[in-house]
Amino acid sequence: MSQEISYVDPDEIDHNNSANESFQSVLQARLARRSILRGAIGSAATAVFGGITLSACGGGDDDEPAPLKPLEKLGFTAVAKSLADQVVVPAGYTASVIYALGDPLTATASAYKNDGSDADFENRAGDHHDGMEYYGLSADGKPDAKASARGLLVMNHEATSHDSKKPELASAFVHINGGTNTLPRPAAEVDREVPLHGVSVVEVKKNGATFAYVKDSAFNRRITPLTPVTLSGLGAGSGLMKTKYSTDGKTARGTLNNCGTGSTPWGTTLTGEENWAGYFTRGAADDAARGNDKSVASLKRYGRNQGAASRHGWETGGADDKYARWDISKKGASADGSDDYRNELNTFGYLVEIDPYSKTSAIKKRTSLGRFAHESAAFSKLVEGKPLAVYMGDDSRGEYIYKWVSAANWAAADANPADRIATGDKYLDAGKLYVAKFNADGGGEWIELSINNAVIKAATNYAFADQADVVVNARLAADAVGATKMDRPEWCASHPVTGEVYFTLTNNSNRTLATTDAANPRAYDDTKGASTKQSGNVNGHIIRVAEVAGDAAATTFKWDVYLFGAEAGADKELVNLSSLTEDQDMSSPDGLWFSRATGLCWIQTDDGAFTDKSNCMMLAGIPGSVGDGAKKTLDYTSKKVDTYIGKAPTADTLKRFLVGPIDCEITGCAETPDGKALFVNIQHPGETITSATVSDPTKYLSHWPGNAGYGAGGANARPRSATIVITKNDGGVIGS
Ligand code: FEO
Ligand code: CA
Ligand code: CA
Ligand code: CA
Repeated sequence: MSQEISYVDPDEIDHNNSANESFQSVLQARLARRSILRGAIGSAATAVFGGITLSACGGGDDDEPAPLKPLEKLGFTAVAKSLADQVVVPAGYTASVIYALGDPLTATASAYKNDGSDADFENRAGDHHDGMEYYGLSADGKPDAKASARGLLVMNHEATSHDSKKPELASAFVHINGGTNTLPRPAAEVDREVPLHGVSVVEVKKNGATFAYVKDSAFNRRITPLTPVTLSGLGAGSGLMKTKYSTDGKTARGTLNNCGTGSTPWGTTLTGEENWAGYFTRGAADDAARGNDKSVASLKRYGRNQGAASRHGWETGGADDKYARWDISKKGASADGSDDYRNELNTFGYLVEIDPYSKTSAIKKRTSLGRFAHESAAFSKLVEGKPLAVYMGDDSRGEYIYKWVSAANWAAADANPADRIATGDKYLDAGKLYVAKFNADGGGEWIELSINNAVIKAATNYAFADQADVVVNARLAADAVGATKMDRPEWCASHPVTGEVYFTLTNNSNRTLATTDAANPRAYDDTKGASTKQSGNVNGHIIRVAEVAGDAAATTFKWDVYLFGAEAGADKELVNLSSLTEDQDMSSPDGLWFSRATGLCWIQTDDGAFTDKSNCMMLAGIPGSVGDGAKKTLDYTSKKVDTYIGKAPTADTLKRFLVGPIDCEITGCAETPDGKALFVNIQHPGETITSATVSDPTKYLSHWPGNAGYGAGGANARPRSATIVITKNDGGVIGS
């Protein structure tokens, strides 16, 4: 059973051909390291942070959520690595499936048959459950951030399982016979596949010891790639956004390839649009059709060379505009693009704000925070009267880490606003966008991406017109200022006590010894199975950043590496630098999330390198802080690389908590405010499938969750992405 054969992860495609060096020669003195903020733990219990103290609004009750009680020691027995087609959790815990691909979201939608015959995915759970947030509801259905018995899950549906080896185009499992893999694609198939993507809002309710989703909740909602959205911030109304759909460039259609999420301090969700570019096709002679104008440089940098084919061929569904928009070739005669979809790609690649409690509030793309392959969004610790920061990663090989600093100063009253989206306007439309440069001395700089920066003004890679052009082409601006090329920045998360920000750098097969630097210091060979050689930063790492003086608006920071992914048996001098044991070893950290109840750091993997030994997994960690470890020199014989490694974890501070079914990714993490229920997404079990084999269940790599008794199909079920809820059998706090 070969799980890596044909699937090409779109994340693996890199488009950063800038000449930025990864290794920065450094003269700057290493900044003083901050000691562990033990003294901050007490005060953090009352800090307003990332929405945790959002109090009841409309519920008639001002109670605060339970204060953060950081765990000092993990209280469960680590689970072993597993290749089983099931979810494994520690003894004393129960994992229950509650919401899977196709589950109905209205009173009248039928139960999911899971045989390829269901069609109406606008009324059902989408595919590839990903980032997720929880929002409490009072017993009478009002927003209540402290409510643990009833709430809303907002979750991304990133993509759909299909074999990307051409000519596979169809999402095999949602069609009876696997779907059509030649062009044109039938309209009915396209109409079925498009709404597999986007976002779900789904109500969940305590049901005995576990939870269930509420099929007929009035809050339930699907947002798809066709849902009308508003462009907000600097890019809105810019000439870069004009399309046949929106001739004033102020609106757009839908959200796509939503990966990580973030929860704002005012009770909304930010959903990150990640690998959106691949869904669009561009004509073979489009460079010339565009007169080789600067849009060509932008399209290339964002992954759409002329002649690029689309992932699913949706542009061939018919003459209707909803199909035409997937072809971004210049076709019209207008000067501004208002008669075709040549600018459509500029309307994707943002953090998109959704009010989970309101179906009537506008959905807003926050363009000022930059256009790239967004993952999650992590908020800085909030300080009354000071700007707030939003941290972000751009996931492709060699891409960058970004930070947004609001122009508005935080006002605690905004934690409980009458209009949540208007509050988003206040903090997420005006401000400054920065990109990170990691220095070899353990320090770093945030470089502002501003049209007033002389380097950007004089950039030779792209002629920036104004600040709208800078944010919409943030990658090109970041290239110009010499940002550090990272090993694929996936999610980021803020430590609820220290305020330090952690970023998963999932892996990088392009990293070579020549391009190693202090912040991306590993390039090595590994073997998968009997003989498959893997090279680069095979297993990934987690870097963390401490702003100088804890100031969200700081332009300098300190960093170190919290953990290096590795196999326990790997060389401790060059590979297993965090001395991971058999209970801790992991590869390709991706999802990353801190509990606001326990302070635990949850690490989720999306791996293909270590899957000969274990399916993807989730670990719990109790990290210290930047500077709690030491400088380490990696001696590659021909080159020495200095890096900074956090204190090695112990058996009490890092353990494997969960292993998923075959061919899945573990992603998305949310909890009830009491810390007693943890929601996790199992994405794409058994995704490696071809249309030719979909009729033969013996060819499926996974049958989960049907084989766990959920939904139709049993042991022969087509696999489904799904949300699980994990509870402790004694009713206690997860991880304790
Ligand atoms: Fe959707 Fe980069 O993971
Ligand atoms: Ca290996
Ligand atoms: Ca991911
Ligand atoms: Ca990933």
